[in-house]
Amino acid sequence: MFESLPDRVSVYEVSPRDGLQNETAIVPTTKKQRLIEALAASGLTRIELTSFVSPKWVPQLADAEELCTLVDIKGSGVAYSALCPNIKGMERAIACGMPEIGIFISASETHNKKNVNKTIDETLATFVEVCAAAKQAGIKVRGYVSTLWGCPFEGAIDPRRGLQIAHQLVELGCYQVSLGDTIGVGTPLQTRDIVRLFLKELRPEQIALHMHDTRGTALANVIVGLECGVRDFDASIGGLGGCPYAPGAAGNLATEDLVFTLHGMGIQTGIDLDRLWEAGRVAESIVGRALPGKVHKAGVRSLRS
Ligand code: HMG
Ligand code: MG
Repeated sequence: MFESLPDRVSVYEVSPRDGLQNETAIVPTTKKQRLIEALAASGLTRIELTSFVSPKWVPQLADAEELCTLVDIKGSGVAYSALCPNIKGMERAIACGMPEIGIFISASETHNKKNVNKTIDETLATFVEVCAAAKQAGIKVRGYVSTLWGCPFEGAIDPRRGLQIAHQLVELGCYQVSLGDTIGVGTPLQTRDIVRLFLKELRPEQIALHMHDTRGTALANVIVGLECGVRDFDASIGGLGGCPYAPGAAGNLATEDLVFTLHGMGIQTGIDLDRLWEAGRVAESIVGRALPGKVHKAGVRSLRS
């Protein structure tokens, strides 16, 4: 193991979207702005800002337009993105000047229906229109395939179905597809098998791992992914996170835990861990509850250093 580690990996921060969509309380827009500024100040260069989804379905992110006016989404050296489920969301993204969007679909029919009220095929048909509009507007598109490690409604999922969907997302123009362990049930050998399957047919830069840490296995799965050749990882400050349509999905992999581990292995991220830790304090103060991340709780260094 660990014979072909990279010098550098890319961290994709999802807390303003995946984190805040799952908070019971609605966080005021100016507090979201504070969090985003703290995240950007740490050196993160890819941040998922919000979602252009139905405000009835996800009221926590109903302020997407206002947030886009408060954040320098084009000129800051950070690539900002936002989730977009359909053409209405795409029109909102274009109107806001978003440089990148994320389209999302599940490998589980039941989870997909609960998440976007459409079958998988209907969702893919919607994406044809969304991606055509994105191409015309010069907007980059990233894709997600959720519930690849397991579904809260259907149980085990055949990863080959997820791979077929990922191919369709790539054909539609996604520069990268993020593979989601939406409910955090993945374990390392399963991760090795899924990643190897995907890397037989897709290039490493075409996939990312989006691991939820619901059962404490996210970091172990990321290390396996790294060893298999993945170089892009999604994470969320302090371990904020979840999916409102996936019961039990609480807690993305904490960005501080990921960065601490990568730096300790000699792998660069371009992120200043001390400033990242400070961003975690901001996140905790704006949601008003203790966050689960380990480095967030223990600090960056031991008392002796
Ligand atoms: P629907 O109710 O079937 O939509 O919802 P509809 O097309 O029938 O429209 C109904 C109403 O919603 C209409 O308004 C539309 O205008 C409006 P009305 O006439 O009733 O006033 N509407 C919209 N409004 C604003 N923006 C839009 C939009 N679209 C329709 N884009 C819909 C379908 C997809 C909209 C809905 O199901 C939805 O918004 N779902 C949100 C799902 C979501 O955000 N889930 C969490 C993100 S996914 C995730 O967390 C997983 C991930 O992290 C990866 C992983 O962990 O694996 C990415
Ligand atoms: Mg997620």
